[in-house]
Amino acid sequence: MTFAGSSRVVLIVGIAVSVAAAGVIILSFPHGSPGQTRIISQGRLVSLPAPERTGMVSVEEAVAGRRSVREYAATPLELSELSQLLWAAQGVTDPSGLRAAPSAGALYPLEIYIACGNVNGLVPGVYQYLPEPHAVNRVIDRDVREDLYRSALEQSSVRNAPAVIIIAADYQRTTGKYGERGIRYVHMEAGHAAENVYLQAYTLGIGTVTIGAFDDSGVASLLGLPGNQTPLYLMPVGKKSMKNF
Ligand SMILES: Cc1cc2nc3c(=O)[nH]c(=O)nc-3n(C[C@H](O)[C@H](O)[C@H](O)COP(=O)(O)O)c2cc1C
Repeated sequence: MTFAGSSRVVLIVGIAVSVAAAGVIILSFPHGSPGQTRIISQGRLVSLPAPERTGMVSVEEAVAGRRSVREYAATPLELSELSQLLWAAQGVTDPSGLRAAPSAGALYPLEIYIACGNVNGLVPGVYQYLPEPHAVNRVIDRDVREDLYRSALEQSSVRNAPAVIIIAADYQRTTGKYGERGIRYVHMEAGHAAENVYLQAYTLGIGTVTIGAFDDSGVASLLGLPGNQTPLYLMPVGKKSMKNF
């Protein structure tokens, strides 16, 4: 084979390998026993580990022990932990599509986003939670926590947490059926989802706090929310720092 011919073969093999690598990246993340969970990342979509449906902490203990936590350890959050928190917020819990938190008319006006900075298995960025198929989709490619902190009256919990869960809502999904009264239903639903996150976080030794004090339009534009979605709550999440024990 001539030099030109062999270099063409090398080039073609190189391109084929690159395309295969870019197309489907299979990653294995060590949260728990080796090989426990394999996350398949295709482009911007990341499948989440299946949520646990049993646990060691009773509902009574979680209700009694839950507190707002505003300081976190520097440790990263594991993908399995984030998965569990998102499932508690809005995960699908019934084959019919019903979710973890109640919803007026089962219309599900809430949308969950996550501003990630230090989560094992996720590159920093903003992700949208997809309840079905229990996955997250990256919508912004940079760590926005510092900007989010500024839009939230410089509350340090927002800057220091490895991730911030954002509960947003599309009111129209509910007001379309219930009129003005739907507005209060949407706010109630945000409360249900947030309390689920609080209780689930407690069982995992994770701290969180519901933050309602922030600049709505600042947060919406930072997250690139569509015009029909309004941010209602920020919930920084992170392992509790020693100060909280
Ligand atoms: C609607 C609402 C808005 C809140 N906003 C904030 C906030 O902006 N920043 C904050 O640090 N805590 C916020 N909190 C948390 C409360 O301060 C906290 O729940 C209260 O101090 C009681 O403490 P506990 O949650 O540990 O029981 C908010 C709570 C609710 C229900």
